[in-house]
This record gives sequence, structure tokens and C-alpha cells, in this order.
Amino acid sequence: MSYQPEVTLVGAGMIVHDQLLPSLYQLQRLGRIGPITVCDARRRAVEALAKAEGIVKAFPERTFRAYPDSGDPDTIQPDISRQVIEAMPPRQIVVVAVPDQLHYSVIMTALRHNQNVCTVKPLVLKHEQALEIEREALARGLVVGVEYHKRFDDRSLMARRKYREGAFGEFRLGTARLFEKWYYRHSNFQNWMTTENSDAFTYIGCHYVDIVHFITGLLPTSISLFGIRDRYPNGKEGFLWTDARVLWSNGACLNVQNGLGFPDAAPGTNTQGMMLYCSGADTGGLIEHHDQFRGLKYSYLHQPSGDGATIYAEPSPDYFQYLDMGGPGFVPVGYGYRSVEHIIGNCLRVGAVESLAERQKLLREIDAAGIMATPANSAYNELVLEAGRESILHGGREVKIEHRESPAAV
Ligand SMILES: NC(=O)c1ccc[n+]([C@@H]2O[C@H](COP(=O)([O-])OP(=O)(O)OC[C@H]3O[C@@H](n4cnc5c(N)ncnc54)[C@H](O)[C@@H]3O)[C@@H](O)[C@H]2O)c1
Repeated sequence: MSYQPEVTLVGAGMIVHDQLLPSLYQLQRLGRIGPITVCDARRRAVEALAKAEGIVKAFPERTFRAYPDSGDPDTIQPDISRQVIEAMPPRQIVVVAVPDQLHYSVIMTALRHNQNVCTVKPLVLKHEQALEIEREALARGLVVGVEYHKRFDDRSLMARRKYREGAFGEFRLGTARLFEKWYYRHSNFQNWMTTENSDAFTYIGCHYVDIVHFITGLLPTSISLFGIRDRYPNGKEGFLWTDARVLWSNGACLNVQNGLGFPDAAPGTNTQGMMLYCSGADTGGLIEHHDQFRGLKYSYLHQPSGDGATIYAEPSPDYFQYLDMGGPGFVPVGYGYRSVEHIIGNCLRVGAVESLAERQKLLREIDAAGIMATPANSAYNELVLEAGRESILHGGREVKIEHRESPAAV
């Protein structure tokens, strides 16, 4: 019998609406996965997701099971994911999309109930937790894939291949930026992306640290992270602007600027990009990615609805779009979809194998290939985030990063 696992999504917020649920619906449409369940601490969130216009238009023939299915819509039910995961048969898939500081407990609950895991980045906020997840997953022969979707942008894969072939020389000095639009401050972020939990670098800067490693194979060795405290509309305080200096194992230096501050009136959903200066024997190499402008300029007749939507727009065809391919509904395309497809594909590949030893062998191969981020091959991200948090809470002082042997390597 073919292996067609059920999938439980934990969290029904923005990333689930924009990328994860449509990608899973498409995989279900293709017959690769079974029923989908979505649970969220707030019943209102799952109900809103079920009615979301864009998803209903793209997937008119699809539905998911929603939890909580009773009770006051705004009463928080923080334990709902544990109840749902406990009821799952073993070796299915849990997709984790709750706020950063909750990833650890949901992932550990899923692993202890023998579920494969796909989690949004960052895996966790503490390196020790990443090691514990790695040990637990390997011992049980389960996949944990971290959804760093920029890895599945063709330009990242092109640069990685060429860099590793020696086409650019060695990375020396670089700069990267990712600023989300101002209106993000009005979203649910103001309830959790506050100074005690997170900051603009932890939220989005980690993407470019991950990409620089993904392309070059270098490891970060220290970080100085300076943050500017600002107020959300609800009065809570967040580090809404950050400036990071990350040093690398070959002495290279990357500056990363992040914020929730790209003007709502500006075209495009954000501004982002990266410039890496490299050196060869006696000549320079360069990698320059304009990740916010993908060559499209649209000027509409009327102001479109939606936060941050502009009458003059520069949409990205690359991250996530719905295309009309003749129906039913629309087909999701882009690296947002490909990333989920890749991780779920690994869950299917490993999950279909009965023998624990065989599954562990496959997991080690996936770790070594380095395309999908796993606890074993991307633990530098947790080290950077942990050091970054220490730095930002101490005015941006430099914090060294020490790499320890991963449990899978011993
Ligand atoms: N570029 C990216 O890779 C990217 C982009 C956006 C978000 N993310 C990550 O996705 C995660 C969620 O972000 P988001 O933008 O969707 O946030 P969000 O605030 O829109 O959604 C989070 C959802 O989790 C729910 N939730 C909170 N506690 C819960 C619990 N105990 N059990 C079940 N549900 C709970 C909330 O009710 C909310 O609906 C974060 O870790 C974020 O860093 C990644």
C-alpha cells in the first residue's frame, strides 16, 4: 500500500495562509499526502483560515479538519496541539508554524509521538534544544526539516553550485538586508515579537545568515547585534530595527540590516537583497542578488485591497504565486511551494521505510547533502540566534560562537 501520511498543521497565522496550507493542499491534490488538520490556540484563527478568500478560490475542492472545534472563538487553548498530535497514528507529519519561542515544545511533542516534522524557521532559539531535537529524531528515525525557503530560490542554488565550483573565489565582505513592510507592526506580531522574545534579526535576518552558509559552506564565528527599541501600536516594545555584523570562519564579514519599516506605500511586499564581495588569487568575484525586484512593474487601475498593497506594484513571480493552469482552482508555484514540497518529499521518502536502521541511514544522507536544513546540518543558525540575543540585550557587544560536534557526527 502506498504511504500517504496525514498532515497536522500547528498554527493558522500568516505564513500558513500565505504559503504552507496552499502548498500542502497542492501536495494533497497530487495524491502525495492524506487528510490535513489545522489547529491553533484560537478557534477564530482556524475559522478565518477556512474562509480565506484567496485559498478558497485556489482550492475550491479542498477542506481541512479544524481544531478547536468548540468553545469561545477568542479563548486561548494553548494545549490544543498536544491533544491533536496525541490522537495521530505514528509516522505521519506535523508542520509547525507557531511563534518562534513555541517551536521547541511543539516539535518535541511531535517527535515523542513518533511524527515527522516540518517546521518554519528558526528551528528553535537555543542551541541545546536543537541538539536535543536532533538526538530524539535520529533515535526514532524521524525527519525534522527546517523550512528556510530562500534555499529553494533558483538563484540561491545557482550561486551555491558556482561558488562550490570555485567560480567566485572566497567570500570576504558582504551586506544583506531584509525589511518587511511597516504594517506588520499592526499584526499579531505585536503580541509576540517583543524585546523579551525576539527582534528583527532573529525574525528575518537569519535567512541571509543561512543563505551565506548555504552558498559558501562557511560557519559564523561571532556576532554583534545592535537593535533599536520601538513601540508597536499596542504599546509593547520591540527591537524593530537591527544591524548585525557576523564574522565567518575564514575571517569574512557580513553586515545584515533588518526591520519592520519598509514603507507601506513602497512597491513590493518587502525590500531585500545581498551583495557578497569575493576574492580569487589576483582578481575579485561578486554575487549580487536583488531579491525584492524580479523584473515586473505593474500599475493597476484601482488601489487593490489588503495590507501593504499598492496601486503601482513590483510583484515577485518567484516566491509564491497562484497560476491558472486550467483548473480546478489555481496552482501554487514558486520557491515557497518547492521548499514545502522538498521537505514533505523527504518525510515521505523516510517515512515509507519500515527499518529503523534504514531510516537513520537516509537521515544521515539528507544531513550530508545539505540542501534541506536539518538540526544536524544547520545548528549554526541557533548558535547565531542565541549569541545575537545576548549581544542585542547588551547594546550590541561582540559575542563569540563556538561550534560543537553534533550528536549525529559522533
Ligand atoms: N520567511 C519565513 O520563513 C517566515 C515568514 C513568516 C513567519 N515565519 C515563522 O512562522 C511562525 C509563525 O509566524 P506567523 O507570521 O504565521 O505568525 P502569526 O502570529 O500570524 O501566527 C501564529 C499563530 O500561532 C497561533 N498560536 C500561538 N500559540 C499557539 C499554541 N500554543 N498552539 C497553537 N497555536 C498557537 C496564534 O494564534 C497564531 O494564529 C514564526 O515562527 C515565524 O518566525 C517564517
